[in-house]
Amino acid sequence: MNNIHRSTSPQTLISEKPNYRWPLIPVSVIILLSFLIFYYYSLSLTTNAHFPVSSKTLKSNMNQCSSQIVALGEKFLWYAPHSGFNNQLLEFKNAILMAGILNRTLIVPPILDHHAVALGSCPKFRVLDPKELRISVWDHMIELIQGGRYISIAEIIDISPLVSSSLVRVIDLRDFVSIWCGISLDLACLNDSKVQSSFNFRQKQCGSLLAGVHGSVDKCVYAVNDDCRTTVWTHHSGNEDGMLDSFQPNEQLKKKKNVTYIRRRRDVFKTLGPGSGAESASLLAFGSLFTAPYKGSQSYMDIHESVQDPRIRSLIDKTKFLPFVSEIVSAGKEFANATIKAPFLCAQLRLLDGQFKNHQKAAFNGLQQKLESLQQKGPLPIHIFLMTDLPGENWADTYLGDLISDSLHYKVYFLREDDELVRQASKKLKEAGYEQRFVPYSDKAADKKYCFNQRLPDALLYVEQTVCSCATLGFVGTAGSTISENIELLRKFGLCSGQS
Ligand SMILES: *[C@@H]1O[C@H](CO)[C@@H](O)[C@H](O)[C@H]1NC(C)=O
Ligand SMILES: *[C@@H]1O[C@H](CO)[C@@H](O)[C@H](O)[C@H]1NC(C)=O
Ligand SMILES: *[C@@H]1O[C@H](CO)[C@@H](O)[C@H](O)[C@H]1NC(C)=O
Ligand SMILES: *[C@@H]1O[C@H](CO)[C@@H](O)[C@H](O)[C@H]1NC(C)=O
Repeated sequence: MNNIHRSTSPQTLISEKPNYRWPLIPVSVIILLSFLIFYYYSLSLTTNAHFPVSSKTLKSNMNQCSSQIVALGEKFLWYAPHSGFNNQLLEFKNAILMAGILNRTLIVPPILDHHAVALGSCPKFRVLDPKELRISVWDHMIELIQGGRYISIAEIIDISPLVSSSLVRVIDLRDFVSIWCGISLDLACLNDSKVQSSFNFRQKQCGSLLAGVHGSVDKCVYAVNDDCRTTVWTHHSGNEDGMLDSFQPNEQLKKKKNVTYIRRRRDVFKTLGPGSGAESASLLAFGSLFTAPYKGSQSYMDIHESVQDPRIRSLIDKTKFLPFVSEIVSAGKEFANATIKAPFLCAQLRLLDGQFKNHQKAAFNGLQQKLESLQQKGPLPIHIFLMTDLPGENWADTYLGDLISDSLHYKVYFLREDDELVRQASKKLKEAGYEQRFVPYSDKAADKKYCFNQRLPDALLYVEQTVCSCATLGFVGTAGSTISENIELLRKFGLCSGQS
């Protein structure tokens, strides 16, 4: 019955922490380049210090990538993650795919705070411009660093199999910034006003360049400004490149908003790959890479297995499911095995955020029905693991209060951020964190005192999802929640049993 086997806890997850960043460039070259670039930027900084920072001087500085960067020959891709964690995870998967198709090194972003950056609504043609989105992501990234809360998404999601099989090349955003802009992000945490103002000046410069504030810069940055209002990216799907998509804004919307959007399907490789205007740019910057089905179409990306290239097919296949790192998986398994210790149902109830507030009743009804059917079949009490955004003190007046007080029929479990199990998982994440998962220039990184992750990363949501993947009596999620979708995926791919 119970498919939790500690003995089969995934060895591959634990054993592989390869030195995989930037495998193509020898260590010595990078160190040398870092020095050169640092020198270059120090110079440009001192020169600038004599002038008031008008947008004009900023701009002239921005319009160049150092020749060293161009000479690197390595091509990079970044994008703007947004919304909640599972949304960011979807984008991350799409970004891996895009990087694979365009053969660029993917710049791995941090996990952004829940809804710190929002996109808007694609179907309503009301979204933030890719440029604005990139700027918001950059500013939030700096906040995360200054708050000691920066954690890379690759410290939570295990991409080591993809990287070690060379399906994708990656670099951490922090390392990219220190190489590309010659800024050590460590400076962000120094409590010295002089350092701070020089840091702020430089980080803004770097952010503007990366975000494409002044547009694309020859050989340096290509800023993709096509978003879901005008573009659905495809790849090798017949000869539909340039064709109209089936979903278009209706007349009413066009009139009301005075817009003339036309949505076209475009092959991403033809548009941004070899032979295109984007090819020579060292950095390719997307906005959002979020996509979802809408009215028989996709909102932004429609790339699937029909692709001929076996490498891309394999990448599509492997990015369908990316597991959590072992520190999280083992915490979730431990809770299921050692605390619940019985077959259980997982209920994920999203009750507060936005649209979900209005559907509380439906969410409770779904759970109630499932429980009634379980009661007829199995032994009592029914063990239930509950994850919800409704704070515990508000449970009493809801169906959850009924469940908890009916101990004859139900035994309810849940996790809190300050539970020992969650705290231990956070600690392990922090220890594994930067140095272990990302060792870009091997021994050189060891003597850097990164000020990242000064606080324990928040592991609750990930541990909860893992527990739910272990629920043998079933899963009741909230319709329309990306958390729910992700749990279904974890269950389908057997995260808990360790076979994927
Ligand atoms: C479950 O926990 C028990 C002790 O509580 C342990 O002996 C057993 O090995 C664990 N099994 C799995 C599959 O983790
Ligand atoms: C992909 O990029 C790498 C590094 O820039 C290069 O060595 C390789 O030949 C490229 N592959 C293809 C198929 O273009
Ligand atoms: C930073 O410096 C200010 C005064 O300059 C001080 O009040 C504050 O506590 C310092 N913060 C840290 C984290 O050291
Ligand atoms: C609609 O937009 C066009 C340009 O995009 C502009 O010339 C025109 O004045 C606008 N009409 C209204 C009613 O705002």
